[in-house]
Amino acid sequence: MYPRNFTLFTVLLLAITSSSFQAQAANGSHDQGFEFSSPFETALETLQKQMGYNFTRIALLRRAMTHASFSEENNKALSILGESVIGTAVAFSCLRKDIEISPKDLNRRLSDISRVDSSCAVDGKRLGLQKVIRVSSKTDATAPVVVCGAFRAIFGAIAIDTGKPDNAGRFFLSVHGDDVGKALPL
Ligand SMILES: *[C@@H]1O[C@H](CO)[C@@H](O)[C@H](O)[C@H]1NC(C)=O
Ligand SMILES: *[C@@H]1O[C@H](CO)[C@@H](O)[C@H](O)[C@H]1NC(C)=O
Repeated sequence: MYPRNFTLFTVLLLAITSSSFQAQAANGSHDQGFEFSSPFETALETLQKQMGYNFTRIALLRRAMTHASFSEENNKALSILGESVIGTAVAFSCLRKDIEISPKDLNRRLSDISRVDSSCAVDGKRLGLQKVIRVSSKTDATAPVVVCGAFRAIFGAIAIDTGKPDNAGRFFLSVHGDDVGKALPL
């Protein structure tokens, strides 16, 4: 009797110990994952707070904040989508405010907003993107073209994340301010 019970007890004890060990191991690897604690990840958290938008897929924001000089996985294509989203939002906002706006004025607003050395670099720097974006050691993260690319890529990333380019356009208007039109509620 005794040895048999003892064996059963040992087996049970082993089972409990090993399952709790596994749980601890799983928690431990989660805690140690550098993705959760690096300065870059912390900066992404802060950026989301500043924008008032939490990504469902944080990998999209990570990519948006990665310059082509840093890795193959970078923000170039998201930036193209972002520029398009911004252009649509600006044209929409201008026409909504003044349906009589001249094509010349509308084009001027659009070119103002897309000039790399003006508004998008200013907007991007206000968000502090030059301190977040990952670049190679030879690249100047404060260069307007770099900041602009990252700024635009954020809206490309939001469009993909929400599945709706419209939402990204509204976020642009709220981040940029209302000199192109009032920010619209989501
Ligand atoms: C692992 O983490 C989860 C969630 O934080 C917690 O509920 C659980 O008790 C933890 N397990 C161990 C073994 O620490
Ligand atoms: C984003 O997430 C944080 C932390 O979970 C939360 O406090 C905040 O309200 C969220 N923001 C939005 C806009 O959902």
